[in-house]
Amino acid sequence: MFGNFAAAVPQGKLLGTMTDDLETRFAIACAVAREAGTLARRRFLERPRSQRPNMKGHQDYLTATDSEVEDLIRSRLAHLLPGDSFFGEEGGGSFDHDVWVVDPIDGTANFARGIPHFAISIAFVRDNRTEIGIVYNVMQHELYAALRGHGATLNGETIRVSGLAEISHATVEAGWSSRLPIAPYVALVDGLKNAGVNVRRAGSGTLGIAYVADGRTDAYCELHINSWDCAAGIVLVQEAGGFTNEFFAGDGMRSGNPLLATNAALCGKLAGVIGIPI
Ligand code: IPD
Repeated sequence: MFGNFAAAVPQGKLLGTMTDDLETRFAIACAVAREAGTLARRRFLERPRSQRPNMKGHQDYLTATDSEVEDLIRSRLAHLLPGDSFFGEEGGGSFDHDVWVVDPIDGTANFARGIPHFAISIAFVRDNRTEIGIVYNVMQHELYAALRGHGATLNGETIRVSGLAEISHATVEAGWSSRLPIAPYVALVDGLKNAGVNVRRAGSGTLGIAYVADGRTDAYCELHINSWDCAAGIVLVQEAGGFTNEFFAGDGMRSGNPLLATNAALCGKLAGVIGIPI
């Protein structure tokens, strides 16, 4: 029933009885992400080519797979870790103490348009701090994983943020959504371009942040991002030696906040250009 789950759980751990055990949670989250990825991959490959996308709002896509994948993750975690709470982008939930914050398909617009750049994002948050972050790049079979204090990995190999220090050499992903007016985004891109930055936007916030942890890009920024899109990526970047602003400040968990995630050498310079203090 739980796929390869048994192999992923450290020997000697008794599920449901060690609810304070972050290592057990970490192993469970990795296994659940891979199982959910198998479902998402199958749905992506079998989707009808002529499908008209369903929209939740302006440039805000919805697919049946979002809910199906979220339901799978929710039911696995509820069964294995019944004391934890759960919040998913599609079905909601509660943000109580010890909460799993999940985006079942981040990059839904890409998924809906047949672009294989989307990810499953699973974060475990305690006391407004991400302890576990899993980002599964479904079509590339790339599992990014971080357990606070134990580093960040990609398919088991340690990853680090880039060491780039010169802003005019930097590549920065600038996330965008229809939640904010257009003018501040245009001003953000303008500021980055004037500083000599190569600005990109690939349509999955969680993957964009994971790419910072992996040194594929030098920073990710967004003027408003939701916790389910970035909570996992935040611990990935921090465990890979990078820095983020205080995303969870105020009501960040429920209402979202700005985000800047980058390396040590660029954080001061980018914070100045973008206006998100680190
Ligand atoms: C969106 C994507 C996008 C980011 C937005 C998110 P969704 O999530 O991650 O890249 O800029 O802030 O809302 O709709 O694909 O789950």
